[in-house]
Amino acid sequence: MSVKKMVDLDLSGKKILIRQDLNVPVKEGVVTSDLRIQASIPTIQHALKSGAAVMLMSHLGRPTEGEYDEEASLKPVASRLSELLDMPVRLEKDWLEGIDISQGEVVLCENVRFNTGEKKNSDELGQKMAALCDIFVMDAFGTAHRAQASTHSVAKHASEACAGPLLANELDALGKALNAPKKPLVAIVGGSKVSTKLTVLDSLSTKVDQLIVGGGIANTFIAAAGYQVGKSLYEADLIDEAKRLMAAAKESGSDIPVPVDVVCAKEFADNAEATIKNVSDVDADDLILDIGPETAKQYAEILKSAGTIVWNGPVGVFEIDQFGEGTKSMSFAIAESSAFSIAGGGDTLAAIDKYEIKDKISYTSTGGGAFLEFLEGKLLPAVDILQQRSQ
Ligand code: 3PG
Ligand code: MG
Repeated sequence: MSVKKMVDLDLSGKKILIRQDLNVPVKEGVVTSDLRIQASIPTIQHALKSGAAVMLMSHLGRPTEGEYDEEASLKPVASRLSELLDMPVRLEKDWLEGIDISQGEVVLCENVRFNTGEKKNSDELGQKMAALCDIFVMDAFGTAHRAQASTHSVAKHASEACAGPLLANELDALGKALNAPKKPLVAIVGGSKVSTKLTVLDSLSTKVDQLIVGGGIANTFIAAAGYQVGKSLYEADLIDEAKRLMAAAKESGSDIPVPVDVVCAKEFADNAEATIKNVSDVDADDLILDIGPETAKQYAEILKSAGTIVWNGPVGVFEIDQFGEGTKSMSFAIAESSAFSIAGGGDTLAAIDKYEIKDKISYTSTGGGAFLEFLEGKLLPAVDILQQRSQ
């Protein structure tokens, strides 16, 4: 089944509403990695050139619905967009009841996740969004695995709904790369979003030859292997699931390795002291914030012989330098590997930015969870609805 594409539509004089994934890291009001914003620029420029009035929507972080939260405001994103487009970008705080906009203008709607009903994919909310525009453009590949009001319900109710160029290109490129990957296929799944990813690991573990886990997910596996994780982020109720995954991997001849050493701290802070420990020496008041150097070496070895590498999520808290060595080593190992490498996800892109390896990654995707689900072979809900609308 196919979807309608923005590039095939006449946008002249039309009000278009583009859902983008501008969920980027922000620190003290400044965007610290803008790869996702950069990736969205060609779509906006195309729409402007075609004579449209352009409204943009995105989420940022995971704020509480129904209230405004300055911390999760898209203000820093609006500034960066404006710089990259070299034109004013108006941030609209209250936009659900209508937006005043003319041809050639760009308006950014404040964080969609401030609206009640966004996460539940509310029809009422989707209808309000749909009423703002003549054409709804889904371009947020990174959020295409979420059936939410701004990715799904709006597409259901808009007069016309189509895929933007970024979404279309991602689906095309990832489809080609993952259809018949060169073996061995190694996946690195890290980051802090533990539970949402642990379930993804289940189906991933049967598709990949080797699975490397990092971050909060690794802590759950460390606990499952019988070690103490102290005060670290992990999920006690998923330990059995982690055990089952490790056993299943062994049975099928692959492996989910558990770190042999880790970097610990007594507190989560920019200036916290980092201590390298054997995984069996973690104390009750320790936080595991990175993999240790020996583990990084072992993982680098695995990456060296890979045919295809899929990378989603850092293996440590790389934003803080003393807990970034693990992610840095992995980044360099991926960069140096001759494997076809696909990397994606907000934090992963930020790490790629920080260690300046973008040119050495074969394909960088703006999707994290979305591309993992795509790799699992799932039909992404936001794509599903576009397919239905194109019939
Ligand atoms: C991401 O960063 O993975 C996407 O922007 C989706 O964000 P979410 O996991 O908070 O839905
Ligand atoms: Mg992510």
